[in-house]
Amino acid sequence: MLSDNTEPNERTFHNTEAPYVLPNDLEELSRLNLQHYIIRYYRKGNYGAPIDKNITRILDVGCGTGIWCKDMANEFPNALFDGVDINDGIDAENLFPNFTFKQADIMKGLPYKDNTFDFVFQRLLVAGMPASAWPKLCQELIRVVKPGGWVEIIETDIYFRDYGPAWKRLEPYFTAFMKKRGIDPYVVKEIPNFVKQGGLINVHHSRHISPMGISGGEIDKFMVKDLAMVFGAMKPLFVAASGMTGEKVDQLLEDFQSECFEYKTYGFAYHTWGQKSF
Ligand SMILES: C[S@@+](CC[C@H](N)C(=O)[O-])C[C@H]1O[C@@H](n2cnc3c(N)ncnc32)[C@H](O)[C@@H]1O
Repeated sequence: MLSDNTEPNERTFHNTEAPYVLPNDLEELSRLNLQHYIIRYYRKGNYGAPIDKNITRILDVGCGTGIWCKDMANEFPNALFDGVDINDGIDAENLFPNFTFKQADIMKGLPYKDNTFDFVFQRLLVAGMPASAWPKLCQELIRVVKPGGWVEIIETDIYFRDYGPAWKRLEPYFTAFMKKRGIDPYVVKEIPNFVKQGGLINVHHSRHISPMGISGGEIDKFMVKDLAMVFGAMKPLFVAASGMTGEKVDQLLEDFQSECFEYKTYGFAYHTWGQKSF
């Protein structure tokens, strides 16, 4: 069910206590699907952890449209997939036969028993979690994975490097808005520490450039478009916080896109995985 919490720009947002900043409408769900393929291209696959091809239980935390599970099911046709998200914006129950969806606020804990899954995956929850919630969230991911199973987290810090004047104008409002909700995207650098403190072993952590105009490849155009859609969804925020007109914000978001290529803008993605001890 989509929320009826309609904002002035007619996008719909989660009608819950959770601080997640992005909409839950069909436009956003399409964006998430596009974003899945961009990330899969950049990360050269759907996952990094050295999981066994014979595993049978896989969980996606904050599963969005369920597209990661659906794609993974091609690689793990015999596995059962579970997805949990605060939003049930898709017909999640009928996504594919081996998929079970639960609607839940993961800040209140994961609705699964201890030691249930072989592989627990979570991607891009940074805009939904207050910084203070991350250690507990990591503990929850570890709680529900089986001994010997793997937990994997992919995140971005949403701080761009080498950007032009348009983002320079918008960025302070964006940062202030996140801060007001307790969200500090730099917290994602601490994920390896949180999972080690939670008991994971064999922890891998790597930082990767997210090209937004730096690689010169076609895929950058999709990434920049994806980000413009993210910030476009926040247009009412920019208007309210800055006093700029909607037209001015639209213009800045247009300029942001061309400037990404002009200034060779990039960001960072953080990829962490680790194993629960036996
Ligand atoms: C940026 S999307 C990423 C979706 C998916 N992981 C992917 O990579 O395609 C973040 C997702 O987290 C979900 N989310 C945000 N806060 C949440 C919460 N407190 N509990 C459960 N899900 C949440 C949102 O509804 C959204 O589907």
